[in-house]
Amino acid sequence: MASTCDVVAASETASGAVALAGRWTYNVPAPSSERAARHESDRSAASAAGGEARRCTVPAATVIERIRRHVDESPYYARLLGEPWIDELLADDRMRRLFGRSKSRKEITEAYAAAEQVRRMLRALGGDSERGRGAVVFDVCSGRGVGALLLSFLLPEARVVMVDVDGAMDLSHVQARPNLAFCELDLFSEGAPAVLRAAAAGASVRVATAMHLCGALSPRLITLACRLDLLDAFVCCPCCLKGSLGTEVKAASRRQSRDPHAVLLDTLLALAQREAADGDDVGLFIDAHMCSPKNGFVGVVKRRGAAQPAESCEPCEDEPGGGAA
Ligand SMILES: C[S@@+](CC[C@H](N)C(=O)[O-])C[C@H]1O[C@@H](n2cnc3c(N)ncnc32)[C@H](O)[C@@H]1O
Repeated sequence: MASTCDVVAASETASGAVALAGRWTYNVPAPSSERAARHESDRSAASAAGGEARRCTVPAATVIERIRRHVDESPYYARLLGEPWIDELLADDRMRRLFGRSKSRKEITEAYAAAEQVRRMLRALGGDSERGRGAVVFDVCSGRGVGALLLSFLLPEARVVMVDVDGAMDLSHVQARPNLAFCELDLFSEGAPAVLRAAAAGASVRVATAMHLCGALSPRLITLACRLDLLDAFVCCPCCLKGSLGTEVKAASRRQSRDPHAVLLDTLLALAQREAADGDDVGLFIDAHMCSPKNGFVGVVKRRGAAQPAESCEPCEDEPGGGAA
């Protein structure tokens, strides 16, 4: 299944970004009901609402030792090991499971990079960047949510809401944290703005981080967040070059002999600059401590109290059989 977004990829701009105006495609995962049916025999699947989580066989001391071996690679590892809540995190099977795999090391550095961005946005908005009091923090396209889980500790007074189209993941760790929630949502769906607005109800400040979004998910988030009054600030760290946006970016990067990811970042930055309102703060941030080459964030902090643009974001259409991922 593929979704399209109401923006167009065309030529290159003076900055080397791909000029966006038209339709992009991106393969969206099947709805969770279909995926759940496909994985019926997978006993490890346990939703946020309950279900039996697979037991974690890796002891806390082993997890700590595995992270300690890599402290030279990123200061974020030492930071995690020094957290006053590390024992609480690793004592709980449901949370420790997320840190037992080698892949999770990279995710730790991504989580801290996202947390740095969230604190920066909260500071810029006059919010509580120490404990997150009154804030709602969305982790958009969260996956299982290593980042969101760590954010729930780093900002213990914030409400952290994971948002992902995949509701069939093992999310039992969500229940382990009082300030963490999961929202199953297709970012391209017509109802997405209303769902996000409801999830943020009562918050004094609303920010979002989106780690490693593929294809058209990044422009979708940027246009939604800039055009509608859903968020006060957001950052988006794009990932794979999927769909027609990816095709355009790859072609432009070949013509310019530039790294495709740099062209993608420039393209999304140009989109954010175009979509943001006058006075909004738009920027590109590189986090060198992230153990991933895809470590660039495009971010917008809205000018508080600014009138929202009148334009609304039309729902994206589904286009079965389309997509070029
Ligand atoms: C590359 S993963 C990134 C996961 C996580 N943020 C990370 O960095 O590990 C992209 C995520 O986007 C989710 N996703 C894909 N299409 C989506 C959509 N239309 N709406 C919401 N989430 C979507 C996928 O289920 C997946 O978890």
